[in-house]
Amino acid sequence: MTAPLLVLEDIRKNYGAIEALKGISFSIGRGEVVALLGDNGAGKSTLVKIISGGLEPTSGRMLFEGEEFQAKSPAAAKAAGIETVYQDLSLCTNVDVVANFFMGREITRKFLGIPILDERTMEAEVAKALANAGTRIPSLRANVEHLSGGQRQAIELNRFVHWGGKLVLLDEPFAALGVEQTRRGLDMIRQVASQGIGVIIITHIMQQAFQVADRIVVIRQGVVAGDLPRSNTSPDAVVKMITGETLAGTGPAGGRAQ
Ligand SMILES: Nc1ncnc2c1ncn2[C@@H]1O[C@H](COP(=O)(O)OP(=O)(O)OP(=O)(O)O)[C@@H](O)[C@H]1O
Ligand SMILES: [Mg+2]
Repeated sequence: MTAPLLVLEDIRKNYGAIEALKGISFSIGRGEVVALLGDNGAGKSTLVKIISGGLEPTSGRMLFEGEEFQAKSPAAAKAAGIETVYQDLSLCTNVDVVANFFMGREITRKFLGIPILDERTMEAEVAKALANAGTRIPSLRANVEHLSGGQRQAIELNRFVHWGGKLVLLDEPFAALGVEQTRRGLDMIRQVASQGIGVIIITHIMQQAFQVADRIVVIRQGVVAGDLPRSNTSPDAVVKMITGETLAGTGPAGGRAQ
């Protein structure tokens, strides 16, 4: 009955003479994790930027929750519930976790008739949100600069969920993280998805894609070379789709053989 969370229809993007995307179509449902795979220069980041309002497509159509949607800016996408989570780019490092969580949405109370920040209530809300997500941060009053990349990512993702985010995009989220932090990050992605949020993750690491994703979408030279449920494919088959050795893409939007 309900429409998919996001539908992409024939998205094209030219950078001058370069055709970075040559007609991308696929969709993602609520609570679904899609791993976007493809070689360097395949068009993954371009696609993610188009979805999250950082770039306008040259042509094509997007439907978000069943309605035509094209964010004109990252802020507009964010307001609609679509956000790219970066490891640390969008947190303010010189203030604490609570301040980052509530940035622009602070809770105030009146003291002698003057509105002041209600630090205690905000801290309790952040603590609850992080505890629900199973995220442990040593101190909510620590400035973010003292936290690790994985912890920053956790805060961002939790903040996104807390404020009603619907679709989160992660472009190589674990590139700078260690083994244990990556494992926690992957768990967190599943946890986020279990709340009905759609997740698109770009990764070059096949093992991560197979660990976390419900579906694998392979982009090759600006087209969808494969769109398959994880259970219907294998790392070997996906490598072949990435390199173009076979064009075995099947499924709703796949199989655009060149
Ligand atoms: N701002 C730009 N101006 C011109 N060409 C661009 C620009 N950004 C990307 N491209 C080109 O578009 C194509 C797709 O690039 P994109 O960054 O989307 O690839 P990618 O799949 O994210 O690659 P990687 O895995 O290396 O991050 C490449 O040929 C790239 O050179
Ligand atoms: Mg990229």
